[in-house]
Amino acid sequence: MTNILEIKDLCVEVEGQEILHDLDLVIADGEVHALLGPNGSGKTTLMMAIVGYPEYETTKGRILFNGDDIIELDITERARLGIGVSQQRPPTIAGVKLQQVLDYAVANAPQRAQEIDELVSTFQMEPFLERDINAGLSGGEIKRSELFQLLATRPRFVMMDEPDSGVDLEAMNVIGEMTNELLARNHAIRPTERRAGLIITHTGHILDYVHADRAHVMLDGYIGCSGNPRIILDQIRKYGYQECVRCELRRHRR
Ligand SMILES: Nc1ncnc2c1ncn2[C@@H]1O[C@H](COP(=O)(O)OP(=O)(O)OP(=O)(O)O)[C@@H](O)[C@H]1O
Ligand SMILES: [Mg+2]
Repeated sequence: MTNILEIKDLCVEVEGQEILHDLDLVIADGEVHALLGPNGSGKTTLMMAIVGYPEYETTKGRILFNGDDIIELDITERARLGIGVSQQRPPTIAGVKLQQVLDYAVANAPQRAQEIDELVSTFQMEPFLERDINAGLSGGEIKRSELFQLLATRPRFVMMDEPDSGVDLEAMNVIGEMTNELLARNHAIRPTERRAGLIITHTGHILDYVHADRAHVMLDGYIGCSGNPRIILDQIRKYGYQECVRCELRRHRR
């Protein structure tokens, strides 16, 4: 199986300060990985660096997408390759309605017109279609709208930054369903038919709804450990991220 994402020795600076230090991460095509880690550990920074936001400057290392180095590509070129994101705190986009985003998606893929209509109805997005993107939406509604835009545009590789934060229990069911649909987790049995993704979460709630193949714990700008998501999450829920930090210190002393 090919790797959809391969990151090697990545260092990223924000406003002159190094946030990510020699970070390595590999995601095979069709796999969904979870990125856990305490507040401020650098999860969002990693996502922003992969998608190519100009404020996140790569000072060292490589990011390969589907085998090609994308470091020199700008954010638009990376999006065109099929890298899609839902942001932790997305901005309001005045003057652009959700319906216009859907029209754009249909213009690019006319064969998906009926499917997109059905998705609107399945996820009850009708009330949001004529509103400006994220304008006046509640925290939970913004998460739904972000995921819906990804569903409409169907990028090849999706990264979701805290899709579960600030979402109540009932809305979590919908967010879980949307994510499973987006990653083709429910109906694609063969790994090759599944979509690859990176789900960032510090609470891990979303992992009660969406199966992840592998989890990574980020600590202070690098990946501290990787493994089975259920085992890692159980440990974090029992002992907190503090234990990850202690475990990491013990490992370095050996
Ligand atoms: N634009 C910026 N200017 C200054 N510091 C920044 C900027 N963006 C990120 N940082 C710093 O980088 C560190 C990592 O932030 P980041 O948002 O990546 O963490 P996170 O793991 O996503 O945290 P959370 O779980 O709270 O979302 C933090 O200390 C943060 O203050
Ligand atoms: Mg974050």
